[in-house]
Amino acid sequence: MSLRADFLWGGAIAANQAEGAYQKDGKGMGLVDILPAGGELRWHALENPKQAIETTYDHYPSHEAIDFYHTYKEDIKLFAEMGFKVFRTSISWPRIFPKGDELEPNEAGLKFYDDLFDECHKYGIEPLVTLNHFDTPLYLATEYGGWRNRKLIEFYERYAKVVLERYKDKVKYWLTFNEINMVLHIPFFGAGLMFEEGENKDQIKFQAAHHQLVASSLATKAAKEIVGEDVMVGCMLAAGEVYPYSCHPDDMLKAVQENRKQYFFIDVQSRGEYSTYTKRMFEELGVEVEMEQGDKELLKKYPVDFISFSYYSSRLTVADTDRQVEQSAANAFESGKNPYLEESEWGWQIDPVGLRVTMNNLYDRYQKPLFIVENGLGAVDELEDDTVEDDYRIEYMRDHLEQMIEAVKDGVDLLGYTSWGCIDLVSAGTGEMKKRYGFIYVDRDNDGNGTGKRYKKKSFDWYKKVIESNGKQL
Ligand code: BG6
Repeated sequence: MSLRADFLWGGAIAANQAEGAYQKDGKGMGLVDILPAGGELRWHALENPKQAIETTYDHYPSHEAIDFYHTYKEDIKLFAEMGFKVFRTSISWPRIFPKGDELEPNEAGLKFYDDLFDECHKYGIEPLVTLNHFDTPLYLATEYGGWRNRKLIEFYERYAKVVLERYKDKVKYWLTFNEINMVLHIPFFGAGLMFEEGENKDQIKFQAAHHQLVASSLATKAAKEIVGEDVMVGCMLAAGEVYPYSCHPDDMLKAVQENRKQYFFIDVQSRGEYSTYTKRMFEELGVEVEMEQGDKELLKKYPVDFISFSYYSSRLTVADTDRQVEQSAANAFESGKNPYLEESEWGWQIDPVGLRVTMNNLYDRYQKPLFIVENGLGAVDELEDDTVEDDYRIEYMRDHLEQMIEAVKDGVDLLGYTSWGCIDLVSAGTGEMKKRYGFIYVDRDNDGNGTGKRYKKKSFDWYKKVIESNGKQL
């Protein structure tokens, strides 16, 4: 068994990390627009968003980002040169509804995405569009409390209907929320949540999650009604199997429980109902999710068509807290350090086999097509003689693609693969430009200096051959 003949090879970016033009043509402020650059500074802001809103920082990386708002034509041309079949990006919600609660959309924002999707089709590239990638309008967070407030369902549904209607002839693949489980780990990014002293954070996070799950089903319903039955709507999970630290049964049990904290979301989005284990999980966390009449029926009636996910690393958990297990930085997730794995310059552990494990488990559980919509290596690149010799990136991707193909041989149905940050962009977690993922180097540094010029890295030609050979030549 090998990859489908129509396998969707491509790359992924997100509006908030690439477009810049943060106030152009009527765009409102998004959550990321108040965040600074720099590992510790940004993390502190993400954990204390109220304080961040009141602080003036030297530099806001999202304000200019890589200026994709103005450069998309030359960038898409480069993607086409690599042979992309699909390009994943997101629509910036505050570009369409600047504050989020307006009744009428911003026409200039809508026009931008019309042009962008037309440009993709010019080269036969299928857009894969995320409705909400970490950029809920800031106003909805400050005035409404973010996704803890049920009113956000109504605002999101209005936004979804507007863009589905507008792009129904241009976009077939939609994702409702980027990394929906991020609400548990970076609640400001994931759901615009800010907490008061003494609040039960779990209660608020799971209530916000319920609102997003309902909103996701409403978007799926709208997509079926507006675009048609053959539209493809997916959920999106920040995936990565949680391994037990040892074969001790307690570690194994802990791994089952930790894995459920990610499956929880997809169980609802794919199977259409809260799984039975949530009852005890909520009791133990002191959580009572408030539902309205009709919510359960809606979730059941409008599950997703496919399961998309990001994969950067597996994770590790240990039951006995007295055991001192070194911690690792696995994306935003708390994880023990796996002694068998190497790590990136940012301490993210590298586990290609973990991708195969994750794919098999997701497919066994849901039996719906999968789509890898993020994977890649954030690394420091040195531009020399107008290129970057990024053999380390090629090696990382080759190892992961090999395991991806193994998973397909195991029987997993896989629609496509879009590598993360196919062109260098602003890191979500650190706000740095220095943490580069792309096949295309962008001349811009952490402080926003640079010409913005694009250069092809060595991996550019490598990926082109991968696509040309449909994964046979890695
Ligand atoms: C995912 C996000 O969590 O990881 C992306 O969906 C993000 O937005 C990517 O950029 C890589 O993380 P980082 O922190 O290296 O940018």
